[in-house]
Amino acid sequence: MNIFHALIASHQTQRELTASLLAAPAEGKDRHRIFLELKAELVAHETAEERCFYVPLFEHDTTVDLSRHAIAEHHQMDEMVEDLEGIDTRTPEWEAGAKKLCEKIEHHLGEEENKFFAQAGQVLTEEQKESLGRDYEAEFANLHEREA
Ligand SMILES: [Fe+2]
Ligand SMILES: [Fe+2]
Repeated sequence: MNIFHALIASHQTQRELTASLLAAPAEGKDRHRIFLELKAELVAHETAEERCFYVPLFEHDTTVDLSRHAIAEHHQMDEMVEDLEGIDTRTPEWEAGAKKLCEKIEHHLGEEENKFFAQAGQVLTEEQKESLGRDYEAEFANLHEREA
């Protein structure tokens, strides 16, 4: 599995979790449970993606800016997750915050898949794409286990 397929597999999990989060009823524990799952998924993905994708891309002049941009967005998403943690899941305030976070995630995944992957594809060798894919999967599994 090359790095792009590996990243897209994680992105699909995030999309499923954001859809479940927004569909969860105000009462009960589902919102909190799904939120924690999404948080663990996001944190592990961001770190593994930075280590196995963006760090190698910093080596190339044409992919420095996109790497900076993506890492800045990871930070913004972390802050949105942190803000949401302090809000009662039954409130409209939580709903607004969850919607904003999910929209931000979708924007970020779309930008990576539709724009950054093509640019990265030009600078990484075929061998690198394969080996980074393996590195990402191992790194993600390791980090996710710690988060869960
Ligand atoms: Fe990302
Ligand atoms: Fe990503």
